[in-house]
Amino acid sequence: MKNKITELIANNIEGLSKDEIFSLIEIPPKPELGDFAFPCFRLAKTMHKAPQMIASDIKEKIGDVDFIDRIDVQGAYLNFFANKNIYIKNMVDAALEENFGGSTVGNGKTICIDYSSPNVAKNFHVGHLRTTIIGNSLYKIFSKLGYKVVRINHLGDWGTQFGKLIVAYKAWGNEDAVKKDGVAELMKLYVKFHEEAEKKPELNDEARAWFNRMENGDQEALDIWQWFKDISIVEYKRTYDLLGMDFDYYLGESFYRDKTDAIVAKLKSANLLMESDGANIVNLDDYDMAPCLILKNDGSSIYATRDLAAVFYRKETYDFSKCLYVTGQEQKLHFAQVFKVVELLGNEWAKDELIHIPYGLVSLEGAKLSTRSGNIIYAEDILLEAVAKIKDIIEEKNPDIEDKEETAKKIGVGAVIFNDLYNQRIKDVSFKWEKLLNFDGETGPYVQYTYARCASILRKLDGFCVDTDIDYNVLDDGDALALLKEISRFPKVVADAAEKYEPSVVARFAVDVAQAFNKFYNSNRINVDDEVVRKARATVVYITKNTIKNAMLLLGIECPERM
Ligand code: ARG
Repeated sequence: MKNKITELIANNIEGLSKDEIFSLIEIPPKPELGDFAFPCFRLAKTMHKAPQMIASDIKEKIGDVDFIDRIDVQGAYLNFFANKNIYIKNMVDAALEENFGGSTVGNGKTICIDYSSPNVAKNFHVGHLRTTIIGNSLYKIFSKLGYKVVRINHLGDWGTQFGKLIVAYKAWGNEDAVKKDGVAELMKLYVKFHEEAEKKPELNDEARAWFNRMENGDQEALDIWQWFKDISIVEYKRTYDLLGMDFDYYLGESFYRDKTDAIVAKLKSANLLMESDGANIVNLDDYDMAPCLILKNDGSSIYATRDLAAVFYRKETYDFSKCLYVTGQEQKLHFAQVFKVVELLGNEWAKDELIHIPYGLVSLEGAKLSTRSGNIIYAEDILLEAVAKIKDIIEEKNPDIEDKEETAKKIGVGAVIFNDLYNQRIKDVSFKWEKLLNFDGETGPYVQYTYARCASILRKLDGFCVDTDIDYNVLDDGDALALLKEISRFPKVVADAAEKYEPSVVARFAVDVAQAFNKFYNSNRINVDDEVVRKARATVVYITKNTIKNAMLLLGIECPERM
């Protein structure tokens, strides 16, 4: 309808493009002011006339159109009252389409998303939970828009810390303990190394020597490192399984270790490399940034060097149109430096194609999370605790439900994901069980509950099947219309979320639809005797159910049919 009105205005004025008109059209705050409003202030400037006059002129010119019942001039505004029958039909038809909400804008284009990327031999903590959840949602959103998305887990699996860990393992570790406690044991060894190195600084030299052996391909060193890595990945995968998330590639920092020499050579021949205290850097003074360290004074490469290698590898391998990096905001400078260096190497595309997507912190105050040894919080424990708490609620309220385990998992995990995505990603996420597990707030469980309610209504209507043979006139009450208007925003919502790299736009939409549905449901009985009314209302329920399901899937959340 908005497109049609845009078209109508465009045909009757001059000086504004269709895109401009489209973006000027507003949805009035009250239904009495019509379904769409077009302000004439912009035109007043070019036409040198009072906006009220312009509005009246346009109204005059438009005359009668079948899809508009009435046009009111209110001050500088043209208020359009859509023909409800046509308007509703358009919205229902669109919502029934297979890929409603999606589009094909991304067809033929590839987006790489670098996310999650925990550090081997360290626990998968709450910060990594955020990058995983946000990255996965961006993957779903861009896929919905037709992009090919490559999901990359850039594991932190290389660096001097592994030399330390090998020293510690050889001195104080034992195989059984590592096999039994995995990452927790490796973290203990790492802490122990630092305690001991305080007293015996020569341990640091030993650690460096072990890392050098790794860099030189020494089998013993690499075998131990690989073992640590395998153990860590097994644990990370348990968390990914719980979340129902996956990657196309686990290509950690170690993958680029034989690709950093080429980067150094490139930088040298571009005259970008400078010596500074024995290290090699790229000076970024001109861009108000600290220098980008490329080689340490012992000649070893670092995090940034491997990130530079990764940019070029990905560009060549996937020919991305964008590469997104989802990490905490503390890495802002790091990415700004890396992207600048890529650009300085003669790659203008770095400016628009390499994008850092930062997010805020997780504050756990009041969450009372159980912790493993050393008071460390594991993402896995948070998820398991959410599931356990939901299971208690189910036992109490609906103990006879089938698939109790599966349902509790979908709700518990979904609640954590939703809590993470509901606010703008740059804001800190607070973690309060009472709030995020509440079935009656702006939460995952609330949206899922609304979905299950739709499912239950439809189950009880025997013989309901979807088709477009509906009498749209019977949906002409305020709440049905408000709900349909809400639902019809879906394509715009997905496009906006992609443009801003902001899953919260989708999360808020899901809540808006759920709220609009519950209002509609309070004022409209669905299972009425009148077959025509029943069918029309049931179709609205059906559309709501599908839209909620698909919006939640974009967040990485599944909706149970019963709860
Ligand atoms: N491993 C890093 C961390 O835990 C995140 C890596 C992000 N990706 C990248 N290409 N640097 O902080």
